[in-house]
Amino acid sequence: AMSQEFEPRILAICCQWCSYAAADLAVAMRLEYPSAVRILRVPCTGRVDGLRLLKPFEEGADGVFLSGCLLDDCHYRTGNYKATKRVAYAKGILQQLGIEPERLEMFYNSSAMGPQFAQTCRDFTARIQELGPLFDQPSQSAAA
Ligand code: FES
Repeated sequence: AMSQEFEPRILAICCQWCSYAAADLAVAMRLEYPSAVRILRVPCTGRVDGLRLLKPFEEGADGVFLSGCLLDDCHYRTGNYKATKRVAYAKGILQQLGIEPERLEMFYNSSAMGPQFAQTCRDFTARIQELGPLFDQPSQSAAA
């Protein structure tokens, strides 16, 4: 049977030092991770401002997550702590807008954590699938 399951659009903002390398490793290890996850590489999660966390939702993302180095392993020392605070702040804004704050999350993966990164992608995708599309999709009943 053909799956009618909703395919969420997800943006993963990954720090180049750890999580982006973990994503690379996941690919190299041929670990399955959902194709719906688009990866954006940044120098450090601490460089991502609040607006950049919220903008993707406006541009059609159903979920966004930041993936940084493990706490205390950030190459810029406290970037991931800053990012954690910004994610919490941005979640508050989402809530005020009537959007589930669970659509935004912060994760930590070292460069050796390819399998964990793949798992993060699968778990987050499942979470967003459960929440459903952020905005109502155009009716597909005509195609049914
Ligand atoms: Fe990776 Fe800062 S360098 S989170």
